[in-house]
Amino acid sequence: TKRIGILTAGGDAPGLNAAIRGFGKAAIQEYGWELIGFRDGMRGLAENRLTALDAFSLSGILTTGGTMLGTSRDKVHRMMVDGEERDMVPTIVENYERNELDALVCLGGGGTAKNARRLMDAGLNVLHLPKTIDNDIVETDSSFGFSTALEIATEAVDRLHSTAHSHHRIILTEIMGHRAGWLALGAGIAGGADVILLPEIPYDVDAIAQRIERRRSHGSNFSVVAVAEGALSREDREEIDHAQALVKEASSPESKAAAKRGVKRLEASHRANTFTLASQLEERTGLEARVTILGYVQRGGTPNAADRLLGTRLGVAGARAIADGSFGVMVADRGHGTELVPLRRVAGKVKYVPRDHEWIEAARAVGTALGD
Ligand code: F6P
Repeated sequence: TKRIGILTAGGDAPGLNAAIRGFGKAAIQEYGWELIGFRDGMRGLAENRLTALDAFSLSGILTTGGTMLGTSRDKVHRMMVDGEERDMVPTIVENYERNELDALVCLGGGGTAKNARRLMDAGLNVLHLPKTIDNDIVETDSSFGFSTALEIATEAVDRLHSTAHSHHRIILTEIMGHRAGWLALGAGIAGGADVILLPEIPYDVDAIAQRIERRRSHGSNFSVVAVAEGALSREDREEIDHAQALVKEASSPESKAAAKRGVKRLEASHRANTFTLASQLEERTGLEARVTILGYVQRGGTPNAADRLLGTRLGVAGARAIADGSFGVMVADRGHGTELVPLRRVAGKVKYVPRDHEWIEAARAVGTALGD
C-alpha cells in the first residue's frame, strides 16, 4: 500500500474540500492507500503537523467552503522561523521520509506550484491540483474556486446597478484577481457593468469619464464600473514598466534586489487606486461616486456545483495519476477531460487575459468600455 500526504496552500478557495474529498476517497476506497493531511499548507509540512484522514473524516465536507486542513502562504525556501527566514526544504524532505510518504499532493495556485517545483527538485514525488479564484494558472482551462467567485462577483455587480441607478451615481466595485483580470472581466460581462478595468489593458481616466458622460447624454445618469484589483492607469503602468526594465538592466545581485524592491513598492502604492479613480471620475463628471471593495466575500462560503464537480474530477484524476506513477505534474482541466502537465511548465508563470481573448471581444461588442 502507499502512504500519501496532502495539503492545501495559498489563499483558500471554494472547492478545496471537494478536491480533498475527491482525491481522498479515490485514494482510500479505490486504491486502498493511507492518507495523511498536513495542516496549514507548507508550514504544517515543515513543522510536521499532521492528521490521519479516513473515509469518515472526508465525509460531509463536499459542500463546505474554505479548507478543512487550513492553509498558509509560506514559501518553502524562505519561511519565517523564530524571527528569521530559513530554507525549510531539507526539513520538509526529512518529514516526508520520516512519514514514509510515497507522494505529496499540493492543492494551490501559482505560489504553490513554485513551492511544489522546489520540492520536486529536492527529490519528492509531488502532484499539484490547480486552485484559485483568480483563474491565473497557466496550462489549465480553469481552477476550482473561480466559478463560485465569479458568481458572487456577478451578483454584486447586479445588486450595485439598482442602487447606482436610484442615486444617479457612479459605483466602482473592486474585484479580486491578483495580477490578472479574469474575475473582473467575467463578472463585469455577466453583470452588465458599463466599464470594466483590467490589469491587461491600462486605463485612461479621461476615456472612462467620457464614456460615463456619453451614457448621461443618452439618458443614463449612473454607471457601474468593475475594477480588477490589479488594474492600473496608463501612467502607473509606464512607471512600473520602467522600474521593471531597471531590474533587467541591473548589473549586480544587490542592485537587482534593490530594483525589485522598487517595483514591489510601486505596485503596492498603485494597487489601492480605486478610491483615487472614484474621486477623479467625480471631478470630471460631476456625478457622485462610491466604492465597494468585494474582498474576501469572493473567497468564502460554499462552492457552487461547477467547483464541486471540478474539484472532485481533478482530485480523482490526481489519484489516478499517482497510481500510474506520474509525478512532478499538475492535473490540468482541458476541454472535456484532464491532462497531466509538467510542473516546470506551470511554476513561475501567470495566465493573463490575452488582449484578443473572446471575452474582451464580447465585452466591447456589447458596448462595455474597457478604459482604453
Ligand atoms: O489569489 C487569491 C487572492 O484572493 C487574490 O485574488 C488576492 O490578490 C489575494 O489572494 C489576497 O491575498 P491574501 O489572502 O493574502 O490577503
